[in-house]
Amino acid sequence: STTLDPVLALAPDAPAPDPLAQVGRTPWPPGFLWGAATSAGQIEGGAHADGREDSIWDAFARVPGNVAGGDTPERGAEHLERMPDDVALLGALGLTAYRFSVSWARVRPGDRYRNDAGLAFYDRLVDELLARDVVPFLTLYHWDLPQALEERGGWTVRDTAERFVRYVEDVHARLGDRVEHWTTFNEPFCSAFIGHASGEHAPGRQDPGAALAALHHQHLAHGLATRRLRELARPGVPLQVGISLNLTTAVPADPDDPVDVDAARRVDALWNRAFLEPVLHGRYPADFLADVAGLGLEEVVRPGDLETIAQPIDFLGVNHYHDDCVTGHPQSGPGGLRPTDKVTRSPFVGSEHVGSVTRDLPLTEMGWEVHPDGLRDLLVRLGREHPGLPLHVTENGAAYADVVTPDGCVHDAQRAAFVEAHVAAVAEAVELGADVRGFFAWSLLDNFEWAWGYAKRFGIVHVDHATQRRTVKDSGHRFAALVAAARHGD
Ligand code: NOJ
Repeated sequence: STTLDPVLALAPDAPAPDPLAQVGRTPWPPGFLWGAATSAGQIEGGAHADGREDSIWDAFARVPGNVAGGDTPERGAEHLERMPDDVALLGALGLTAYRFSVSWARVRPGDRYRNDAGLAFYDRLVDELLARDVVPFLTLYHWDLPQALEERGGWTVRDTAERFVRYVEDVHARLGDRVEHWTTFNEPFCSAFIGHASGEHAPGRQDPGAALAALHHQHLAHGLATRRLRELARPGVPLQVGISLNLTTAVPADPDDPVDVDAARRVDALWNRAFLEPVLHGRYPADFLADVAGLGLEEVVRPGDLETIAQPIDFLGVNHYHDDCVTGHPQSGPGGLRPTDKVTRSPFVGSEHVGSVTRDLPLTEMGWEVHPDGLRDLLVRLGREHPGLPLHVTENGAAYADVVTPDGCVHDAQRAAFVEAHVAAVAEAVELGADVRGFFAWSLLDNFEWAWGYAKRFGIVHVDHATQRRTVKDSGHRFAALVAAARHGD
């Protein structure tokens, strides 16, 4: 709807503010959560410990060619064994929250039974966090469906949404007395479209109809689980339920070219509104339905589903890495195409007619633009469009090729600057009135970056993947200093 809003620019010749001073004087809401994020399938390892069985990522990574370097999530960052030390690191950095995900394949191996040994790990994790005054911020689904369910149709079948609720019940029964913040899904865009349309993620399907069925069944699972969590809420234990979406600002490469403007509209529909509108308002956007007409979405939507999907939520999680400058003439973009183009060129957005253009901005090692103002503007816009809906930045970070230098440090100056600029951008958004309640750096640890394997490092803590040794990077120290400045009045 408002993709093309004018950007709230700072005066271009204003002196660059001192981020520490700025963060220190920002009126952060009381109890603002300063955290780092991870996910089970990227750090835990212990693929078959305590009865755990394969997730779709274990199976997908075994197929040669699916993951760079033939990497698999089997070891991750061995967090399963090193969890107490990792939690101690969070505490040492002065962080007040930890966003982690629970592995369905560990809690219900093969989705056949409740695995108490698997649940015990999360039980210990939550206790460790609480002992250090770190708020647990739990994600129920971060892309790692039990492989046994994939073999029964995965997210393309409705049954998976119903089974998700049973898994959520098991997790809540064990942790619901101590965990207040629950996120149903992490970036369902990626699991639906990258997993089922472009096929670069597990389960690796390339079928537009399957992607749309997965989209709808994940939405349904979100609604069913949200409703069930409310029913299960225990008296005296506060409960906040939300969802983390990877939202983008789609900017037309040439705002005067109707072809580029329409390309940006399609991307906005596919990435943002196909998620925000069902979850918040119980409807699919009309233009999105027109874009995907004939691909089978209507056939999987049953009466009542959209009411179920639109359960009230307590917060919206925003994962933000980059915006998208979009052209309807992909072959002629001045900067050529970016790695994400495969996704934006999927059949949902007009196939061959939509691509991204790289602007004159610094790029991370993923090829993603560094543009902190984009995060500020996104938060301000969400606040304006959805008044009364608290926001958490549930992921923000950057990959760079880090090394441990002979002094035993990781001098990741680019990431340190990235973190500083993005925390400052969130401070500006708060000052401009956005109701932001938390910020989570992605990621606490270097980890298994999905189809990129261990080659891409997002951590504020370096992991030597051979020895599993942890080294806090300069960016981790910088983040800690920003958090300390923000919390000085707590
Ligand atoms: C979003 C995903 O949630 C996370 O798993 C991934 O590692 C980061 N983006 C970086 O790509």
